[in-house]
Amino acid sequence: MAKVPVQFTLNGSEKAEFVESGATLLDVLRDKIGDTSPKAGCRQGTCGSCSVIVDGELRLSCLTLAETCEGASIVTTAGLAEGGVLHPLQRAFMDAFATQCGFCTPGMIMAAKALLDRNPDPSRDEVVEAIAGNICRCTGYEPIIEAVLSAARSNSISAA
Ligand code: FES
Ligand code: FES
Repeated sequence: MAKVPVQFTLNGSEKAEFVESGATLLDVLRDKIGDTSPKAGCRQGTCGSCSVIVDGELRLSCLTLAETCEGASIVTTAGLAEGGVLHPLQRAFMDAFATQCGFCTPGMIMAAKALLDRNPDPSRDEVVEAIAGNICRCTGYEPIIEAVLSAARSNSISAA
């Protein structure tokens, strides 16, 4: 299959790759670049485990062609901690026991980050809506919802 060049920024680092035409962003991130934080679940757009943020928008990397990301800024869960300090969402997920097997967690955190980036003080219903595309088989969702609300509260406290 023909290879095409693509350049983008991943968690602040410039990346330049030759990718197979038609390759998904999920496979390029995991198999070529080695960022395995987006998880390969259903690979058909129904579980949300592969969620990443592309140019500020939540995207399913299993349904995104890598070659369409030319010039994009991509953020994954692997890029959230800074200097060894967890992002408030990561800390809140730990504190609220919002992760069990952990397979859904990176996608959940990306969905939550996309929400808090555009709405730093969401209601419970807005959190539920924001993670509606992400499936969790373990937690029953309540700890996840509480973690997102807790992270929002901690952000507003630190910003005050
Ligand atoms: S792996 Fe992309 S939505 Fe399930
Ligand atoms: S923690 Fe296991 S799928 Fe969510």
